[in-house]
Amino acid sequence: MAKDSTSIYYTEGLPVPETPAAGKAPKPWEQTDVIGKPWPRVDAYERVSGTAVYPSDILLPGMLYGAILTCPHPHARVRRVDTATAETMPGVRAVVGPETREADLPWSYRNVKSKIFPPVCRFEGEPVAAVAAETPFQAWDAARAIQVEYEILPHVSDERRALDANAPKIHDGGNKVKTETYSRGDVSKGFADADVVLEQHYRTEAELHTPLELHGCVANWDGDELTLWESTQGVYAVQSRVAETLGLPLAKVRVVGHYVGGGFGSKLRTSRYSIIAAVLARRSARPVKLFLPREETYLSMGNRPPSNMTLKAGVKKDGTLTALAFTCLGTGGAFPAGGTSLVDWQIRDLYRCPNISTECTDVYINAGPARPFRAPGHPQGSWALEQMMDALAEAIGMDPVALRLKNIPTVSQGRQGSPPYTTTGLEPCLTEGARQFGWAEARRSLGAAQHKGPIRRGVGMAASVWIVGGGGPPSTVIVKLFADGSANLNMGASDIGTGTKTIMAMVVAEELGLKPEMIRIEHADTGTTQYATPSGGSKTVPTEAPAVRDAAVQVKRQVLEMAADEMGLPVDDLAYEGAAVASRSRPDRRVPITGIEGLRKRGVVVGVGHRDPNPEGKSINPFCVQFCEVEVNTQTGEMRILRFLSANESGRVMNRMSFDSQVIGGITMGIGLAATEMRILDTEQTGKLVNRNWHDYKLPTALDVPADITSAPVEMPDAEANTTGAKGLGEPVTIPTAAAVANAVYHATGIRVTESPIHPLRLCSLLEQQTKEG
Ligand code: MOS
Repeated sequence: MAKDSTSIYYTEGLPVPETPAAGKAPKPWEQTDVIGKPWPRVDAYERVSGTAVYPSDILLPGMLYGAILTCPHPHARVRRVDTATAETMPGVRAVVGPETREADLPWSYRNVKSKIFPPVCRFEGEPVAAVAAETPFQAWDAARAIQVEYEILPHVSDERRALDANAPKIHDGGNKVKTETYSRGDVSKGFADADVVLEQHYRTEAELHTPLELHGCVANWDGDELTLWESTQGVYAVQSRVAETLGLPLAKVRVVGHYVGGGFGSKLRTSRYSIIAAVLARRSARPVKLFLPREETYLSMGNRPPSNMTLKAGVKKDGTLTALAFTCLGTGGAFPAGGTSLVDWQIRDLYRCPNISTECTDVYINAGPARPFRAPGHPQGSWALEQMMDALAEAIGMDPVALRLKNIPTVSQGRQGSPPYTTTGLEPCLTEGARQFGWAEARRSLGAAQHKGPIRRGVGMAASVWIVGGGGPPSTVIVKLFADGSANLNMGASDIGTGTKTIMAMVVAEELGLKPEMIRIEHADTGTTQYATPSGGSKTVPTEAPAVRDAAVQVKRQVLEMAADEMGLPVDDLAYEGAAVASRSRPDRRVPITGIEGLRKRGVVVGVGHRDPNPEGKSINPFCVQFCEVEVNTQTGEMRILRFLSANESGRVMNRMSFDSQVIGGITMGIGLAATEMRILDTEQTGKLVNRNWHDYKLPTALDVPADITSAPVEMPDAEANTTGAKGLGEPVTIPTAAAVANAVYHATGIRVTESPIHPLRLCSLLEQQTKEG
């Protein structure tokens, strides 16, 4: 190979994928040099050294600090807000509230006032007024000095009482948001055909997202142009909401979010603090930093809503499911926010079953609105369905894995027209997972029947499907190849901590033969990067990676065309090799990338990549099956999770290292639902949130999560899904975790814990009940 000074950018001798002809999609990768390998993050150093600048790290010259005074009551009318004292406090530069005089206000304020400071507060934590001051302490002191006269209204904060006749009405139309139903087949006939019918009530508690980086932004005006540095999963989504609310053209609102310290869905929505920060910055003519304290994020930045579910299921002796009837009561809080959204999806779609009915009722309560929370609705439905499958298996004397294998679907029955899946990983995840976990042996040797002492061990498993995960358009990405052979990748998507940037760099690296560390990434900035939908739904990789691949292919094609001209050879005869372009027919004819005159003259070759639509009439879904082993101390009610295995079919594994990290993270979060996490509202008296800090809201810690977590990817080549073959992973890996734990607890103790979380007090009382019933 022709040596030149830039060969360090390339891994010598590695073939790069063929360049498809114009208008043709690239073939699936067969052999890969970078994709699928365990690749450390391109921003690992920045993240661990503290040099990564998160939005909450931003400091601007002259910057003020904002604070929001929020309503301390779950339901109250704001009678009067007196900001006079606050305005005279030291360091205070701006105070805004519902009674601030219109004449003094920035032009945008009139329209937004009622949106940020509502006359009636329907949950604890609704904004009432806000302050900007020279220091955070001055801002908080001033916020506390604002005097508010509330008319306290009666509240209801337990969704199970929201529809009671005497429950206080949260909105004029009453407390019912909606009831949604779904059905197929004939459920009564299905139950009549069954040999065994079981019915059980289940409940999951609300969880709070708790990202490490708080919710907030820094707002700065430059004339009539607004810039927000915001901790968000989607800069373009924030741009459009902020522009709409403030009445600004999109082009005048720039949103930047280069790092995100966690979101898990809570940073998919645009929040009032962004608008409040913009208003405070406008009024004070200074940049304003406004990040919520942890307590406020717990009150107002979303939750995984609670669910109250009843599932009735019918099965034949041979394991054939005949009918499922499901009802759910849930709440998204004080506003329509998807309280029961997707809770029934596992029931509708995971197993082959001809007769299904579901009914989900969503009600209002006086609590903060729900937000999407890692696989919205799915872990709740899984908690019910997968515990029911466990009970059905026992009732017909069948192994839980065998029962599931008996009911494998090949089409998405829950969707209109029952489209076939591009790949159905459920079966291999069940068999491969069971094999690697040692399921059959553990099932025999452990379990309640095998132990006489107080320490019991058991194993459990659960399966799942994720409703999306195939991604899709729109996505536009730009790859620039510089004259020295290094490259720049420009995309709008956020890396929400999942390793998106690294995977996209790997795609460019694979296609261009470059080393991933030679690629500079520009992302998540509406001012400088391409449009992208928010990073969520486990769709970021399958949405963006094909566009990245396309952009790299566009670069290669242009380089080949330039080289063909200069070498006097037909373009079809040339192959892109990364460091060089070579003739296929005459191996002696090759030119290093830096030797291509056209590239040197132009300076940069730009490839614009797009995401093609998904195949029509197909459903693209990831599958996940998890197995775990637990130990229960029947004297203290303590439960320890000893090991976990996750078998995932998410299409192609793009980066084995971040893939495994996602598995560990998803299981950790699922253990929170299973064992430690619950939002506690004082429903009887004040309606206030009781556990609003990291001491009282119990996240799983290193002591709750086993060191022994195995990631067992099941790769099925998926040539249809998209040009990279990747499907989503981040959400699938948290869906079945809690149900698998509950099933393992049942195996260990004979106790079915139908209400989350499985904490020692709950287990103790169930154990006591078990002893009494003898
Ligand atoms: Mo996710 S709940 O789509 O960030």
